[in-house]
Amino acid sequence: MTEHIPVLLKKAIEYLNVNPEGIYIDATMGFGGYSKEILKKISQGMLIGVDDDKEAISLAEKEIQKAGKRYQIVNDNFGNLEEILKNAGILQINGIVFDLGVSSYQLSKAERGFSFNLKGPLDMRMNPEAHLTAYEVVNGYPQEKLFEIFQNYGEERWAKKIAENIANYRHDKSIEDTIELSEIIKGTIPKNLWEKHLHPATRIFQAIRIEVNAELENLEKALKTSLKHLKIGGRIVVVSFHSLEDRIVKHFFQENVDRFEILTKKPISPDAGEISNNPRARSAKLRAAILRLS
Ligand SMILES: C[S@@+](CC[C@H](N)C(=O)[O-])C[C@H]1O[C@@H](n2cnc3c(N)ncnc32)[C@H](O)[C@@H]1O
Repeated sequence: MTEHIPVLLKKAIEYLNVNPEGIYIDATMGFGGYSKEILKKISQGMLIGVDDDKEAISLAEKEIQKAGKRYQIVNDNFGNLEEILKNAGILQINGIVFDLGVSSYQLSKAERGFSFNLKGPLDMRMNPEAHLTAYEVVNGYPQEKLFEIFQNYGEERWAKKIAENIANYRHDKSIEDTIELSEIIKGTIPKNLWEKHLHPATRIFQAIRIEVNAELENLEKALKTSLKHLKIGGRIVVVSFHSLEDRIVKHFFQENVDRFEILTKKPISPDAGEISNNPRARSAKLRAAILRLS
């Protein structure tokens, strides 16, 4: 099994500043890397670990039960945070942490369709029971809509041409798997313009994943709900992996600056040692804020 190395773990826990009696949400429990550290610090409090991926949850539970007992695990999307808190009977929280995106484990499973390096179905659902898959986006969306997604969620300079080439390809046959899609993208962007350390399909895969999982809408929704339920002195900590997510977090803190004390004037990035040990960390950015006024 591909191990998931938590990114910016020490910093995230430091910024969360766990109160042993507090109620904390790990909105993206994944393999429990953050949850374990939170649990170790909790004595009378409680941790709610949330993840949309059932498989991640069952693997995480094995890990976190070694670290403490005061937890509940919820298999849901953090976009449903309001219902999650209501069902758990929680009105106020001391802190919430998000470590966005997919885990190394999810990326390593070809059958989940997240990776452009592994042949797999066009899936990309965080929640394998959700309705929309990458297949429907790639084969079913009109060319114009694909273009918008590639431009808005991928910030891909070749968005228009890639959408056009996908639409042309689909006239003859549907696009069945990740490698077939990746080859169309590679064939569209002239090789001499490929970026040195970035696979040419990176941005398009990111865009499709964001669309399939409504990632940006869910993040915005969850941040608003977090603020609504945060205690004075409570903290929000977010680790993001691309500029669209980071922008949402930055704007959210700024829009509420009369209530928040922003702890990270500039986002925190992993140091060179962490990046060389865990290349997935290279684009990570951490932002954190404390609620000062309700
Ligand atoms: C980067 S991993 C988190 C890793 C975790 N911090 C650890 O140390 O093991 C992100 C996890 O968040 C989950 N996830 C992503 N978006 C989600 C959402 N909107 N709701 C719930 N879980 C989500 C993914 O399924 C994945 O397991």
